[in-house]
Amino acid sequence: MILRAVECEKRYLKTMDKRPIGFFDSGMGGASVLRVAIRMLQNENFIYYGDNGNAPYGDRSEAEILALTSSAADFLLEHGVKALVIACNTATSASINVLRDKLDVPVISMEPAIKPACMCDGDGKVFMLATEATTHIRRYRALLERMPDPSRVISIGCSGLVDRIERGIVEDNAFDDILDEHLSKYHGIKADAVVLGCTHYPFIASAIDCYFEKHFSGEHRLYDGSMGTVSQLNRVLKRSGLENDSGTAQVEFFTSGDAESLRPIFKRFLTMPPYENK
Ligand code: DGL
Repeated sequence: MILRAVECEKRYLKTMDKRPIGFFDSGMGGASVLRVAIRMLQNENFIYYGDNGNAPYGDRSEAEILALTSSAADFLLEHGVKALVIACNTATSASINVLRDKLDVPVISMEPAIKPACMCDGDGKVFMLATEATTHIRRYRALLERMPDPSRVISIGCSGLVDRIERGIVEDNAFDDILDEHLSKYHGIKADAVVLGCTHYPFIASAIDCYFEKHFSGEHRLYDGSMGTVSQLNRVLKRSGLENDSGTAQVEFFTSGDAESLRPIFKRFLTMPPYENK
């Protein structure tokens, strides 16, 4: 009798908010975060919006990025999302405070994973690779200043990588020319950590790893922020009673670009297994 009462109560406590969770990125990058969310939150529905028509954001001004991100957020809210994940470091840096003030759903952000990277042992450097915009925007500079030794971090804007990844290119040796352009002056330095500070980069984690292996000394590890962001999303859903406890993950894809040619790339990225450090 008592058991049955407990069971009833449990059933009553289950939440069933079937509304989707919105995921946003300037293009395909957010799929690296969404693939983690799909694994961790298997009952949730997702709507992904990639602003591929306006990507890359990384070479744009802060004001432009804010305007584009705000209209993307409006698009997702019109589609009835119960929470919004800005799965883009660049868009987060430029817009998160404005979005949180303006929207009445929880907004989950993304930031380069320099916190865990700076906690790693060693006397080598932490290389933080991101878009040009992320490295300059105040939000990232403030995060950097909060690190125990900001001078350990070398922040590098890697223009050019996103354009190539957007075309579905991820092969190991396909990025050496761009990486040389941004990193050759640091060759030979000891690297303890490499932060993938743009959500597009996890798709070329292996290419970046090989590049550092070839040109830098030290036993570097790769860090990316997707797991941290999805764990935060999970906490927010629970805390706000927004979880969907029963159902199967559905993903709907929207883009401001050419959906027909982009959908297959999106699907391939979504099913690529996350890179594991050796
Ligand atoms: N994926 C985005 C990020 O995490 C930026 C890509 C772009 O330049 O549009 O920063």
